[in-house]
Amino acid sequence: MVSYKDLGLVNTKKMFKKAMKEGYAVPAYNFNNMEQLQAIIRACVETRSPVILQVSSGARKYADQTLLRYMAMGAVEMVKVAKSKIPIALHLDHGDSYELCVSCIKSGFSSVMIDGSHLSFEENIKLTKQVVDYAHKYDVTVEGELGVLAGIEDDVQAEVSHYTDPAQVEEFVKQTGVDSLAISIGTSHGAYKFKVSRQEDIPELRFDILEECEKRLPGFPIVLHGASSVPQEWVEIINKYGGKLENAFGVPEEQLRKAAKSAVCKINIDSDGRLAMTGAIRKCFAENPKEFDPRKYLGPARDALMQLYMHKNRNVLGSADRY
Ligand code: G3H
Ligand code: 13P
Ligand code: ZN
Repeated sequence: MVSYKDLGLVNTKKMFKKAMKEGYAVPAYNFNNMEQLQAIIRACVETRSPVILQVSSGARKYADQTLLRYMAMGAVEMVKVAKSKIPIALHLDHGDSYELCVSCIKSGFSSVMIDGSHLSFEENIKLTKQVVDYAHKYDVTVEGELGVLAGIEDDVQAEVSHYTDPAQVEEFVKQTGVDSLAISIGTSHGAYKFKVSRQEDIPELRFDILEECEKRLPGFPIVLHGASSVPQEWVEIINKYGGKLENAFGVPEEQLRKAAKSAVCKINIDSDGRLAMTGAIRKCFAENPKEFDPRKYLGPARDALMQLYMHKNRNVLGSADRY
């Protein structure tokens, strides 16, 4: 058993308390490799933003769980060397079983998500409570989910989304003891969030559902998944240099800004980073066909990612200059 406390990580409790009080959201960025992790840490140190490093079960398989733990330790050391005080949480994204959550907690995660959103209400409560009971013994925080997001996350996939029913949130939180709750208000995973062909036709998120959840759970941290904005400048670069992304649209940034000022304390962003990295690499390849040193294309991709995250922290989530 490796405790996250020995790795210099923190759980999400204090992070969310401060975010709630000051009206911003903590960024939760997914990572699978060194360049992504470097970009996240550099951007968050530079902007003095707290950060949740998010690892999906796919990322865990891809990067190797032991290496991941040392990467998180490396991130903590990078922050110390930079004389920064930003807190870092290591979080399991979309955990789909009790066993996976336990395994992550044993290997140093400070926070886990148990995604029982595809189960019946009763089964979701049962599974989530089981994870909470184990996690809380080790002071690890737990995120649950009510309502279903469309899209694909590893083995968890859904064709259509089902908005969260606000009438269920109090009972879910009370019965399970979760520390935060992901809700479904119209976001979805990936780069194709809306069935529209023009940006102007993107519908508003269901802020009415968010407000109703806030009323029923005063001061309780809410989480937004599927919060990439799918920057059109990156979509254009990808398409210009040989890609083929059609009608790829995300959540407009002003809507996320509004959400970040509410009880939404954690905003999950993965796809935007994938787009920036892919765009930067495609551009490098097209402009430098003779280049074959990975540092020459992964370096610019890392720079593009860092710029993207700094922008998110400063102008979308409002998490900059907090530490
Ligand atoms: O919500 C899912 C995240 O974007 C992680 O994606 O399962 O492909 O690593 P992944
Ligand atoms: P995006 O696909 O919108 O980046 O969402 C990421 C996410 O919710 C990770 O859990
Ligand atoms: Zn998600």
